[in-house]
Amino acid sequence: MPRVSSEHIQRCADHIRHGELVAFPTETVYGLGGDATQSEAIAKIYALKNRPSFNPLICHIASTQEAEKLGVFSMRARELAEKFWPGPLTLVVPRRADCPISPLASAGLDSIALRVPHHEMARQLLDAVARPLVAPSANPSGTLSPTRAQHVETYFPDLLILDGGPCTVGLESSIVGCVDDRTYWLRAGGIAKSEIETAIRTQLSPPPSEHATQARLSPGRLLRHYAPRHTLLITEQAATKNDAVILFGNQHDPAARQFNLSPSGSDIEAASRLYALLHEIDQELPETGLILVRPFAAEIAHESGLYEALLDRLQRAAQMS
Ligand code: TXA
Ligand code: MG
Repeated sequence: MPRVSSEHIQRCADHIRHGELVAFPTETVYGLGGDATQSEAIAKIYALKNRPSFNPLICHIASTQEAEKLGVFSMRARELAEKFWPGPLTLVVPRRADCPISPLASAGLDSIALRVPHHEMARQLLDAVARPLVAPSANPSGTLSPTRAQHVETYFPDLLILDGGPCTVGLESSIVGCVDDRTYWLRAGGIAKSEIETAIRTQLSPPPSEHATQARLSPGRLLRHYAPRHTLLITEQAATKNDAVILFGNQHDPAARQFNLSPSGSDIEAASRLYALLHEIDQELPETGLILVRPFAAEIAHESGLYEALLDRLQRAAQMS
């Protein structure tokens, strides 16, 4: 991790307290951070990302104790927080009546998404700001999330960025909803579904239908997300000279431009490299080139839970094509 002085962290914290935005690293992806109590700062985030105003943001705090000042924690939510925080899990819980977070962050829902990140620099920043930070991924809405400071800089050259080196997890947090007596699996991410089910000794429910979710569970997961600029297909189709091929494990391909996401077949490695590789391919590939992802179920371990997140992100990227 690059070394950053405490003066620099302090400068970033002052910037945020003045209502400005700062990009910062987390273990999952880089976040576009703003003071969660200032509506104007949040409005700037929506504007900069060109994000639909009905897609709510995750609020980052330093501890479970801080989180409980913002949301109502059921026994189950508490169990999850105890087991997985700090780390790549986001909990959606009902907002407390006295929750000081701007309603803009929740996009008008009466729930709030909370996460205690593990990354050391994120924690230093949270301590220095001493306020909750909203932070969506630091990319324009619908594009690839950044896993390195340079990715953020390419999207937003004028932004103040805290450089913490490459993100270790590389895909977004898992999101679990604890808004009623069920526990909903809202987004696959850094922590495996099975690990969560084991921790709470209960099956997670699929997200309820769009209609039923209006009050508390967000529409965000239905949005198209995580797409590179080039068309991406999950296919065996042969590559032309303009295309790039993404392989896994022991796969071989005659294509000139090919990248193996994890020769050893590790889902952790593949997840941590996916976005960085897609950023790189997007820069290099001729305009008409395609990104051909080879079917990988047999090549990649389904061990860490990142397998499901990897499949989810690639399928979404393919749907947009
Ligand atoms: O790993 C992560 O979670 C990263 C880092 C920066 O923490 N952040 C991130 O934020 O991925 P973003 O904005 O790209 O994704 C936030 C997701 C969206 O799908 C949104 O719909 C959902 O969280 N969300 C936020 N508030 C919600 C709520 N009240 N109910 C349900 N989902 C919510
Ligand atoms: Mg995002």
